Amino acid sequence: MSKKILVSGIQPTGRLHIGNYFGAMKQNISIANNGEYESYIFLADYHALTTVRDGNALRAQTLEAAASYIACGLDISKAIIFKQSDVREVTELTWIFNNLVTMPYMMRAHAFKDREAKDKEVNVGLFDYPVLMASDILMYGADIVPVGADQKQHVEYARDIAGYYNRAYSVEEFILPADLILLTTGTVPGVDGKKMSKSYNNHIELFCSDEELKKRVMSIVTDSAAPEDKKNANASVIFNIHKLFLDKDQTEELRAKFETGGYGYKQAKDELLSTIMLWREGKKEKFDELMTHPEELIKILEDGGKKAQKKAESRMKGVRKTVGLS
Ligand code: ADP
Ligand code: TRP
Repeated sequence: MSKKILVSGIQPTGRLHIGNYFGAMKQNISIANNGEYESYIFLADYHALTTVRDGNALRAQTLEAAASYIACGLDISKAIIFKQSDVREVTELTWIFNNLVTMPYMMRAHAFKDREAKDKEVNVGLFDYPVLMASDILMYGADIVPVGADQKQHVEYARDIAGYYNRAYSVEEFILPADLILLTTGTVPGVDGKKMSKSYNNHIELFCSDEELKKRVMSIVTDSAAPEDKKNANASVIFNIHKLFLDKDQTEELRAKFETGGYGYKQAKDELLSTIMLWREGKKEKFDELMTHPEELIKILEDGGKKAQKKAESRMKGVRKTVGLS
């Protein structure tokens, strides 16, 4: 029996942070590495074009995102890692899908509504974002798409679009990914307690300098409780970030420190910093090495792109025939 397929992308719109890691990357890596799935993991640079207007920055961020994945342990012998734009077919499929979705349907997308609500003029690429993402998911025939909760609607759009296409052309080209598993971890808080996001600048980058890491950790918001006070661990941003790095027992030990009292916020931050530093050991060196000699990384992405493109090419043969382009 052929393996089930995992598809996941991450936008290279900036350096990856611990929200990205615990919200998406960690699960992708562990599922991909167990070898049970045929895994397609890509840097969604076409998606990033909806917001990034600096070619050099996009190029660099794409490499950094790939380096982050590998430094965090993605086994490239088990997963195909590639640049979304190395598979040009995905834009062709998007165009074909565009003719099957209506404007009112697209206008219900959260990403679009949020942007509009912020009084921003939405570009057509951003408006079409869910269709491009559906093309990624359906192109490779995803069975599972491990993304954070904020991407749930996009996965549902992919499911709808598969159905629209199959019905419009009376085919079974795209598997209706009804059993699409959406892996969700809770939302990772940023240093200010809001959802961690680079757009709020409240994030902790995975591979920033040690000084920057320290600065960010020390800037985590706290209340005015004194060191000797008992503290509600669940309400503490320090605790909620720290526990991500801990197993169950360690989490309970940490909780007890907060709740017993005598554990000041300075000490809590120092310990969080040590935990993150320990977690980064080896990974940061690997990241820096990959970025200092990007030739190896570029080659990995090119090889991955070729494999993904092959799969896309065979998919598009059928699609072109069905819709009448060939
Ligand atoms: P950002 O908000 O920093 O721009 P993205 O929107 O590019 O991050 O997120 C990429 C992936 O990381 C998504 O799958 C998203 O669900 C996940 N992710 C981002 N921030 C968080 C967070 N604070 N908590 C959990 N998951 C997150
Ligand atoms: N929209 C996703 C994000 O911002 C990235 C993405 C693009 C993606 N295409 C995808 C994720 C396909 C999963 C599957 O995180």
